[in-house]
Amino acid sequence: MYRKHTCGELRAAHIGQETTLAGWVQTVRKFGAITFVDLRDRYGITQLVFGERMGERLDAEPLGREFVLQIHGSVIERSNKNPNLPTGDIEVTVSDYTILNRSAVPPFTIQDDTDGGDDLRMRYRYLDLRRSAVRRNLELRYAVNRSARNYLHENHFMDIETPFLIKSTPEGARDFVVPSRMNPGQFYALPQSPQTFKQLLMVSGYDRYYQIVKCFRDEDLRADRQPEFTQIDCEMSFVEQDDILRMFEGLVKRIFLDVKGIDYAEPVARMTWEEAMWRYGNDKPDIRFEMMLCNLKKPDTVFTDRTDHRGLIADAGFNVFDNAETVLAIAVPGASEYTRKQTDEITDWVKRPQIGMQGMVTIKCNADGTFKSSVDKFYPEERLKAIAHACRAVAGDLILILAGAEERTRKAISELRLEMGQRLGLRRKDEFKLLWVLDFPLFEYSEDDNRWVARHHPFTSPKPDHIPVMIGNDPSIPDPSAYLSHPYAQIKANAYDMVLNGNEIGGGSIRIFQRELQEKMFAALGMSEEESIHKFGFLLGAFEYGAPPHGGIAFGFDRLCSILGGSESIRDFIAFPKNNSGRDVMLDAPSSIDEKQLEELQIGLK
Ligand code: AMO
Repeated sequence: MYRKHTCGELRAAHIGQETTLAGWVQTVRKFGAITFVDLRDRYGITQLVFGERMGERLDAEPLGREFVLQIHGSVIERSNKNPNLPTGDIEVTVSDYTILNRSAVPPFTIQDDTDGGDDLRMRYRYLDLRRSAVRRNLELRYAVNRSARNYLHENHFMDIETPFLIKSTPEGARDFVVPSRMNPGQFYALPQSPQTFKQLLMVSGYDRYYQIVKCFRDEDLRADRQPEFTQIDCEMSFVEQDDILRMFEGLVKRIFLDVKGIDYAEPVARMTWEEAMWRYGNDKPDIRFEMMLCNLKKPDTVFTDRTDHRGLIADAGFNVFDNAETVLAIAVPGASEYTRKQTDEITDWVKRPQIGMQGMVTIKCNADGTFKSSVDKFYPEERLKAIAHACRAVAGDLILILAGAEERTRKAISELRLEMGQRLGLRRKDEFKLLWVLDFPLFEYSEDDNRWVARHHPFTSPKPDHIPVMIGNDPSIPDPSAYLSHPYAQIKANAYDMVLNGNEIGGGSIRIFQRELQEKMFAALGMSEEESIHKFGFLLGAFEYGAPPHGGIAFGFDRLCSILGGSESIRDFIAFPKNNSGRDVMLDAPSSIDEKQLEELQIGLK
């Protein structure tokens, strides 16, 4: 028997017992004739005491960090208790020990606040994974996995595996491709998601499917994106949008309860895409705080109150506002006392290339009811007051205004809103706010190809009353600059995203399930009949054999874990992640392959 207890197990109740422990040497501290060793395993740390006799053996063959050690000894009460350690009431006096394996000096310290940089830790990821901070992340990931499986199983979902070697049908991201030795000159692709398979399973009658599954996308990486990542992928038959929303907010609430002990009792907020864009400038708004946008250049077409603030800034001779395509403002609560230095710093922030604005206008709503602005020259106090009113600002607020081209300014103000929320401590990591964003546009205009692309994917159904608009209009775009006035730009999809604290954690849709409509959709995306048969003939064929109405969703499993764990980066929650250039620095992959392999595959490199 290698061990009787784990290194995290012993408590005061074990005092007087004999034990055998095995683990890794964390630290060795010598005090005169006595040596203290912290022994670590997955479960915790136990303090060992080597007395004089054992100490002599240690002197002859000293222990080093990360040696694998087995000890026998007895559990005694610690005189110097450590309340921060679960095993802090006891220690083990060692009567015998065996060095099971030695270790080279590790390239960084295996502690919570390690001295190892990112690259080094990734190169020696197997050592990094020994750190309790990383281990806790993987434990959280496993807890989310178990919770999701339990909930889905209880709700009659069936886990069915789908293939990884499939056909390349890029739509969205690029495919990773795999050459086929047995079919020279031909390639498989790794799935970007099991989308078409789960739809086929619906045709086959497996009306509730799920899979916790790897997906592969050759896209540019960010903190919340990996080239291979995991989805909780789900599909249901005989459902409407509302059935899906209820089932899967149930899933996320269950995960909150099981993993974080949070009883998320309130209904999940719902917002249309238009509302999200108008109020937050963003399709994944962080609703932990308000600070909503005020559009000073465009009348409101989203809400029934139909406000029009254009008059507030017009005819004042301020060219920046007059010439801008859009002017957007937010009121930052309690920031009217900001010094000149502080507002200059925010101006510099919006001028950074990533944000790309030329400048920023401020209006201070002073506590005494007066207003002070960087553009006082153009706007008398009465006007400032009216602008403040439009922005729903109150005394003590600081209004920040950005002006410029529509798209860029909207992005910039939505980033600025998040930044100010961060600075004011309104984005607390222990507060979780869920949101459904609904009614996404069906199409997006692709400037590169001058055609429509599916905003979610080509299997997403239009809103039923928008189907005639899709069928009844020619998809071609004769005047690319006026694509927004094309009827297709107005078509909404039966698609939804789940947003958690400003992150898209899941997305899905009600699907098209009739062959004719699916064919129309492919045509709308500029696919010829041959092309659609070549790429998706199997699906069109399946739709001829009694496809049920169906819909589904996929959650970004890594993302969900990282948010629940309070981290910005999904890499922290993946055992063996890739770096930002898509490399595994431990394996040194990707790498070149042998001539012989290339030959077998009949591939010549350029
Ligand atoms: P979608 O493409 O929106 O939908 O993906 C679903 C969720 O997966 C996560 N995600 C990622 N996570 C890490 N790295 C990536 N590169 C990455 N890309 C996406 C996001 C996203 O919300 N088949 C459809 C789902 C459906 O319609 O049912 C799909 O894949 O959190």
